[in-house]
Amino acid sequence: MRRRTALKIFGIGVGGAVVLGGGGFGAYYAAAKSDTAGEIAFGTALPIPPLAKPESVERGARAYKLGIQPGETRFKPGPATRTWGVNGTYLGPTIRARRGERVEFAVRNGLDRATSLHWHGMHLPAAMDGGPHQTVPAGGTWEPRWTIEQPAATLWYHPHVHGSTADHMYRGLTGLFIVDDDDADALNLPSEYGVDDVPMIVQDRAFDGDNQFVQPVPLGGSLGVIGDEILVNGAVGPYFDVTTRLVRLRLLNGSNARLYNFGFSDDRRFSLVATDGGLLAKPWQTSRLYLSPGERAEIVVPFEPGERVELRSYPSEYGGTLGRLEGFDDLLDICQFRAAGTLSGDARLPAVLGVAPDLAGAAVAARRSFVLASDQINGRSMAMDRIDFGVREGTVEVWEVTNDNGYLHNFHVHDVRFQVLTVDGKTPEPSLLGWKDTVLLAQGKRFRLAMRFSDHTDPNVPYMYHCHLLQHEDDGMMGQFVVLGEGEQVGAVHHHS
Ligand code: C2O
Ligand code: CU
Ligand code: CU
Repeated sequence: MRRRTALKIFGIGVGGAVVLGGGGFGAYYAAAKSDTAGEIAFGTALPIPPLAKPESVERGARAYKLGIQPGETRFKPGPATRTWGVNGTYLGPTIRARRGERVEFAVRNGLDRATSLHWHGMHLPAAMDGGPHQTVPAGGTWEPRWTIEQPAATLWYHPHVHGSTADHMYRGLTGLFIVDDDDADALNLPSEYGVDDVPMIVQDRAFDGDNQFVQPVPLGGSLGVIGDEILVNGAVGPYFDVTTRLVRLRLLNGSNARLYNFGFSDDRRFSLVATDGGLLAKPWQTSRLYLSPGERAEIVVPFEPGERVELRSYPSEYGGTLGRLEGFDDLLDICQFRAAGTLSGDARLPAVLGVAPDLAGAAVAARRSFVLASDQINGRSMAMDRIDFGVREGTVEVWEVTNDNGYLHNFHVHDVRFQVLTVDGKTPEPSLLGWKDTVLLAQGKRFRLAMRFSDHTDPNVPYMYHCHLLQHEDDGMMGQFVVLGEGEQVGAVHHHS
């Protein structure tokens, strides 16, 4: 049975109100597993988010206008869904800029309430970060600008208003930000946008009988909203026409809380070529890949002429006792790939891609530990006016992060990319050997993360670190740090808006 059916029987709706029907908890539990393998019609061509067009490329800067607005989006037959979007009604354009380029944005907020746009994964001044201290009031315009100083990677943007991030994202405010550079261009990876280099923003959503978004929280749920329908780039049940022998997918887990265990319906192997912060040292072949909310992966998938295969999410090992209620046992069809009768292009990948993270041997200026439990980090809830600590510009720190309460969490740090040095003292699995900015925290394990803080000192404007399960973040599982120049001390929070 589909979860949706269970939700209807037991009347779980907005706000998580629960009325148990005749079968009680046992029936609810039994029905909570969703299996859509072979059930999805795949009737919509995968929409490709348009590339944002710069208004001007003057003084060496690319200037973009981004308008955040309410609207209506047609996801399925029947009424349109009330949504939010950026330069459109749902999601936003893909921004693309090269390393070394300057970017300037005019972010206009056309909503009836304050929101923000945070550039997830970007190395930039804290005042430009778009976090909870850079909200844009209703009707206002915010003009962040910075120079891109990091390698090619798939980054993204989304709102970050403390207490409302989950809601604002769920309504549709999410887009990709692709950074290019010469090194990545020289590799001959599939790179024609929308043809063999395909963005996939994967999100779960739940609809009511009028096709409006609802935010169901499973009975006894600990993660926040879990939807029973999977959207890719805003389409339910999409297909993609494959024309090349290799296709690069830029996967973003754009869900509020759902964990995906990606794989293909025939268990084919694919190559992981990049993670959050950029290219791996070399491709890693696998048939499964976990992505928790906020994480990205670039994978290259081989295709044969004429075939059809589905991208799926498989059941997960991270669920715990009642994990089924929050989607961990689900088997979900996500997107169908339909290969043409003849396919063009190369079938081989370069053996060497990038440079492996090199922080393992670095001198460590400070070690810190972070325990995530009960919507808090180290026993404290996020407070807008409390800066938790300062780090010294130019130094490397090692942060040991532990998930200590049995629920799914992950850990995201603003401004920097980090290297996962060890997991419980051991070398991490291959998917964690590249640069990351968000990492899934397996319950009880100790993750040792190394990061270098460079540039952009500001004692008064903090960056965030937090769990990227958005309800947890909104509930306070977040903290703030500043990057200090020589002789500087942690200051008092300045709000920029
Ligand atoms: Cu994706 Cu603090 O954010
Ligand atoms: Cu971020
Ligand atoms: Cu969490």
